[in-house]
Formats: sequence, C-alpha cells, structure tokens
Amino acid sequence: MSSTPELPGGPSPEGLTADGIQEGLETKRLGRRVHVYPELASTNRTAHALAEAGEPEGTVVIAETQTRGQGRLGRQWVSPANLNLYISFILRPRLEPEESAKITLLAAVAVADTLKDRVPCAPRIKWPNDVLLRGRKAAGILSELACEPGRTLFVIVGIGLNLNFPRAFMSPDIRERATSVMEEAGAPVDRLRVTRSLVRNLENRYIELEERGFASIARSWNAYARMEGRWVRARTADEELVGRVRKLDGNGFLVLECGDGRTERVVSGDVFLMEGAP
Ligand code: BTN
Repeated sequence: MSSTPELPGGPSPEGLTADGIQEGLETKRLGRRVHVYPELASTNRTAHALAEAGEPEGTVVIAETQTRGQGRLGRQWVSPANLNLYISFILRPRLEPEESAKITLLAAVAVADTLKDRVPCAPRIKWPNDVLLRGRKAAGILSELACEPGRTLFVIVGIGLNLNFPRAFMSPDIRERATSVMEEAGAPVDRLRVTRSLVRNLENRYIELEERGFASIARSWNAYARMEGRWVRARTADEELVGRVRKLDGNGFLVLECGDGRTERVVSGDVFLMEGAP
C-alpha cells in the first residue's frame, strides 16, 4: 500500500524573493515589478486584482504556496510550499480577445525553452499548453482574459512548474501522470535561476510575437509538440473529432485532417493522442 509522506517544512535555502529574481534579470518589459508572497489562494486571482487596479504590463506575482491553486477545466493545482514555482504574469497584449489563446501557446513554448537545457530529455508540449518530460506533466498554464467587446484589457498568464517536487511526495493519482525537473535532472534545481530564465524566455517570445507574428511562435510550438502526422481525438465544446494532425497554424488553430479531404481547426478543448489510425 502506498502512502504520501509529509512534505519537508520550513523555508527553502534558496527561497524566492523579488530582489533575488530581479538581480541580473535585464529584461525590459517583464519582471520590472515582482511581488512574492509566502502564501496566496491563487497567484492568478491576485494578479487579476492587481491588473484591475492598474498594475502595469509585465508585473509578476509569485507565491511560495497556494491554498486554491487553479488548474484548467476547474481542476485544482497542487501547490506544496517552497518546492516549485507558482507564477502569474500581467500582460496587456495588442491582440483581439479572440486571439488571446496565442499568448497561452506562446507561454508553453517559453516554459519548454526554460527546461530544455536543464533536463537530459527533450521537453514536449502537449496540446494546448502542458509541458511534459518523458511523458509526464511538469508544467501547466492557465490564462485568463479580461476584455471589452473588441478590446483586450489584460491577460493573466499563470504557470505552475514542478521544480523540486519529489514524485514520492505526490499523491498516488498525480504521481502516475506528473513529474518535476528535479526528478528528470537527477538533482534539485535552483528555483531563482529557473524563475529568472522563465521571465526572460517569456519576454523574448512575447517580443517575437510582436515583431514576427504568431507563425514564428507556431513553428517552435510544432517543434516542441511533435504532433504532426499523429492521430488524435479532439473534444471541443460542441463536438468530438478524430483526425490526423497537420500542424498548429499561424492563427493558433490545431489543423486536423479528418478524412475525405475534410480539414477541421481546433482552437480549444482537449486533444488525446491515439496509438495509431482509428
Ligand atoms: C493546468 O491545469 O494545467 C494549469 C495549471 C496552472 C497552475 C498555475 S500555478 C500559478 C497560477 N495560479 C493558479 O491558480 N494557477 C496557475
């Protein structure tokens, strides 16, 4: 019978601080303001409230633990203290509200950029924005849009990244599907360095989107996702599709070939990889 050991308590030797994150950061747009809290209900909730109160673009909100970490589809994001990274960014992109999914896809690329030199395996993006290491989830992204008709006010990009979370400390149901950078790298990682690297990578990808457009981001997303040619089952709000992935296109749609020459575009919903043709 398996049981979940207690998590180690107390502050971590390299606790996250605003000064520590900003030291040598050298970003222009993201991370000029950093708020670190010992505990929050959810960094996305606090970032949302700060954005509504006028906090500028690029502000970062971090918590060492979350009591109500939010995942996609109403799920909970398990957020033990002092081990991982729970971070939300306030962005005010010049995009139509319908285009905001591009920001989430871009964030997944930035997370994969951050992990690729820290683990021996190649990080993979799983539609739309999970980042997996050897088939197990190491990071998840929850973006929230605030808009008026035809105008994006802000987007909160919330990223949960399992860093020094031992799989032995995960509950059995999570342990099946999840991992951490420490587990894959074989040694604990410096959370300050990873945080700085993520802020820089997100800024670089954000500027790439502005300067070169989403097609450039989509090329990197496709390279990390390696989904081309794979058979998938896609569950959207109103239908279930089976098809072969062509690619993520320059608009942020996953293009599927669904037989008899029919092409479908998936913008949201879950996509499950199939072993082969149906
Ligand atoms: C997912 O379900 O995969 C998305 C998980 C997103 C979790 C992060 S942790 C930081 C931020 N604050 C939250 O409440 N959620 C996101």
